[in-house]
Amino acid sequence: MSEYLPGLAGVPATKSNISDIDGDKGLLSYRGYPIEQLAANSSFEETTLLLLDGELPTRDQLRNFDEQLKENRRVKYNIRELMKTLPITGHPMEMLQTAVACLGMFYPGNECLTGSDACEDLFYIHNMTVKIIARMGTIVAMWEHIRRGDDPVPPRKDLSHAENFLYMLNEKEPDPILARIMDVCLILHAEHTINASTFSVLVNGSTLASPYSVISSAISALSGPLHGGANQRVLEMLEQVGSPAKAEEYVDKKLANKEVIWGMGHREYKTKDPRAKILQKMVTELLEKKGGSNPLLETAIAVEKAAEERLAHKGVYANVDFYSGILYSEMGIPADQFTAIFAIARSAGWLAHWREQLADNRIFRPTQVYTGKPLRDYVPLDKR
Ligand code: COA
Repeated sequence: MSEYLPGLAGVPATKSNISDIDGDKGLLSYRGYPIEQLAANSSFEETTLLLLDGELPTRDQLRNFDEQLKENRRVKYNIRELMKTLPITGHPMEMLQTAVACLGMFYPGNECLTGSDACEDLFYIHNMTVKIIARMGTIVAMWEHIRRGDDPVPPRKDLSHAENFLYMLNEKEPDPILARIMDVCLILHAEHTINASTFSVLVNGSTLASPYSVISSAISALSGPLHGGANQRVLEMLEQVGSPAKAEEYVDKKLANKEVIWGMGHREYKTKDPRAKILQKMVTELLEKKGGSNPLLETAIAVEKAAEERLAHKGVYANVDFYSGILYSEMGIPADQFTAIFAIARSAGWLAHWREQLADNRIFRPTQVYTGKPLRDYVPLDKR
């Protein structure tokens, strides 16, 4: 095959049985289970085990996994000291990438990947998976305190993954409603077929790089505004728009300048992203419960309508990042942490794909369509 397709659009990069998207119908499923059912009934811990192992766990399997996550939440004192040396003006995604890459230096043990039984040690793979997923939330929450000059809040073993993250972030008992919202957000963001960051996992994993390096590369890919970084941009955009009345004018101006509307459009979906529908409903319900309103939500609805009217014929609709930021900001979370929360969740899917890649590994080595000069002779410097 020699046809070049920019962005590898429509080109299968792997075989996978982890998740599936029907972009015309707007359906997303993890291991066959519709995202709506998982959001309504599951927990992040259970969904993670489903993604990793392929089946919904039994009560004992879930309890066991939950305990493993809780046991692995703490990070070494040296990681904390290292984080203290990072500039507080740095972006949380760069901090997260740095800290996760450093975990590999502080928690070595990737000999299984380079030894004779490379890729076959399921205990090693599971162990690394637990360590990384358990610590992602810890690192993101720690940073919120460290960058303010405070000591981070130690993790607790009596809280769920979502509860513990909110507890560490805010240093207070998490509100049960907000904890459940965070849990659902983690489920919704946990996996999404072969997107850019997951592709990075496949490529880096295929070289047998350590899982910390693999996840660090995925964090880098996710940070870009065309991928996970869009959730922060959406909130900044809505603040810039200012009010629902200014939505149409804003969208027209952006499109006239050939700029994108953040949180709109997706390579796979040609209708509204099912996760955006759930997130929009959650933010609406949260505001009703609080008995208030959020002008950003009203502005978002107006921007979505204006953008859809102008872009639906190109298959451009709201994606997962359009409503998540309003929800997080209602929970008091700073905008620059939104993508880092996405990464906490997506570590589950990334590691499921890492494991799948290792189970049937061949190093990625695509080809190219060469567009350079034909073979020619070197010209000495004084002859040029
Ligand atoms: N705003 C304005 N126009 C958009 C758009 C957006 N958010 N998303 C896509 N389009 C337009 C493109 O300009 C293109 O128009 P054209 O055919 O006239 O050139 C058409 O829709 C097809 O889009 P394309 O750029 O080919 O889609 P893609 O699959 O390569 O890119 C995204 C997908 C997600 C990168 C793109 O939709 C985007 O940049 N969205 C904004 C960033 C974002 O929200 N990212 C998070 C994704 S979950």
